[in-house]
Amino acid sequence: MSKQVSVWTDNRFWARSAAWVTGFSSILLIWLTFDTSSQIAMGTESDLQNKVTKRVPAPTVINYKITYEMSDKRGHEVPVIGEKEKFFGRDDYSEQEAADLLHLGKLGSQAKNCMNCHTILGNGAYYAPDLTKAWLDPAWGPEGSMMALTGKQTKEEAMAEFLMNPSKYPTHERMMPDLGITAEEAKGLVAFLKHMSSIDTNGFPRNFGRMQGAIHGK
Ligand code: HEC
Repeated sequence: MSKQVSVWTDNRFWARSAAWVTGFSSILLIWLTFDTSSQIAMGTESDLQNKVTKRVPAPTVINYKITYEMSDKRGHEVPVIGEKEKFFGRDDYSEQEAADLLHLGKLGSQAKNCMNCHTILGNGAYYAPDLTKAWLDPAWGPEGSMMALTGKQTKEEAMAEFLMNPSKYPTHERMMPDLGITAEEAKGLVAFLKHMSSIDTNGFPRNFGRMQGAIHGK
């Protein structure tokens, strides 16, 4: 007489379930990996020229005006890349020049450890303002105070001057220390910040536009 065995105590049932779940998860993960890679792959200059929206635009995005606009469909602000705009007097940086500048900025941000105090794309500290969208902070635009404070005519020059001499321009209770940043490094860092502001981060940092009044990137 065979004993009635419940399916829940049957080893074969659990072995099969485990195999199916593992198999299904592996396929899902492989698919997600490819999907993510294509989403975060950097765009090209021709994407910019043809107005193809990429989450991470080409480094040559520094040749364009970047604004931040509310997307009703997505329920948060998204970066919008507009017309050509001069960056340190030029709007014709080649792909190589723009990539080199960005590289210099990235290395500078690591060498000077900006993340020790700031947050960059979700990584870092909260001692100082989030830098992910710092380029769009209206404080640096024509309606902000930083151009006048630094005596510069453009946003990028004002930012570079601040980065070279932050202790000369304290605006909050906390002051950014002088980090010995050179003019060349400052240019790279500002390019790095400008490019980062053009990345579609699904509205992160949350409510940045509303907090800072940065919508339409004044
Ligand atoms: C020791 C901490 C510290 C480090 C390291 C640091 N910062 Fe700062 N930073 C601050 C503080 C504090 C402020 C706010 C100062 C103020 O507004 O007066 C600030 C402000 C800024 C601002 C203005 C932010 C805005 O939204 O307007 C920028 C841009 C900036 N930092 C860039 C950088 C970069 C780039 C680096 C790395 C090269 C860096 N900081 C490293 C402390 C730091």
